[in-house]
Amino acid sequence: MDSTPEHPELSNHSSEQAPSQAPLQDRVAALKALEAEIRRCTRCPLHRTRTHAVPGEGNYDAVVMFVGEAPGADEDRQGRPFVGRSGRFLTHALAQVGIRREDVYITNVIKCRPPNNRDPLPRELEACSRYLDQQIELINPRIIVTLGRFSMARWFPDGRITQIHGRIKNIGRGRVAMAMFHPAAALRNPVWREQFVQDLQKLPSLIQRAQAADQAAARGEKLPAGVPHPGDPDYVEPDSGQAGQEQPSE
Ligand code: URA
Repeated sequence: MDSTPEHPELSNHSSEQAPSQAPLQDRVAALKALEAEIRRCTRCPLHRTRTHAVPGEGNYDAVVMFVGEAPGADEDRQGRPFVGRSGRFLTHALAQVGIRREDVYITNVIKCRPPNNRDPLPRELEACSRYLDQQIELINPRIIVTLGRFSMARWFPDGRITQIHGRIKNIGRGRVAMAMFHPAAALRNPVWREQFVQDLQKLPSLIQRAQAADQAAARGEKLPAGVPHPGDPDYVEPDSGQAGQEQPSE
């Protein structure tokens, strides 16, 4: 997929460039180079059993980044994230809330398939973690959605998904993270499936708020009243009436 953004409505800085951000063309070049590096990576033993590494795909200027666990068999075959059954469910659920898959960026914590879809080992997580760090730095999403245990652990280390799904947490640098069920888990459990779509429904208003705040900031204005930037300390989760800082687990 050509990841150049086609839909400025879901771009971070559509026509206005935030002062601190490198020009989009430089970031796109760096992301393409990073993806090429990931495809050649031999930093852990998973490179011996993979067919293709799966760097990620989507809009390089996305407001929202989805971070799954690791490629499965279909992803390993095609070199693309979330293209199997759970990927089709994710794409369909996104469409249900009015978001096109190509407008977001989708990647995984681990870029190569663990044999038989076993859990990633600490050594593999460690070897891959800098790739995700660099992708986040370059794409600079306002909203990171975690799909599954291993991406959730990065931003919600003590969280239990059944308790914290849908929770929005300020993670600094103008970003929030939201924990969601893994699509494969949602497919197995009808209640979680419903909760998955409910959680996803929070995204359109989060995106709107982030864009309004980014545009105001790019114009050098103060943040618009009532539209706090999701990463701001005064950020209030839509519809919750509560501050967007992490709330203690029940
Ligand atoms: N599950 C994941 O976590 N990631 C994929 O890309 C596919 C399935």
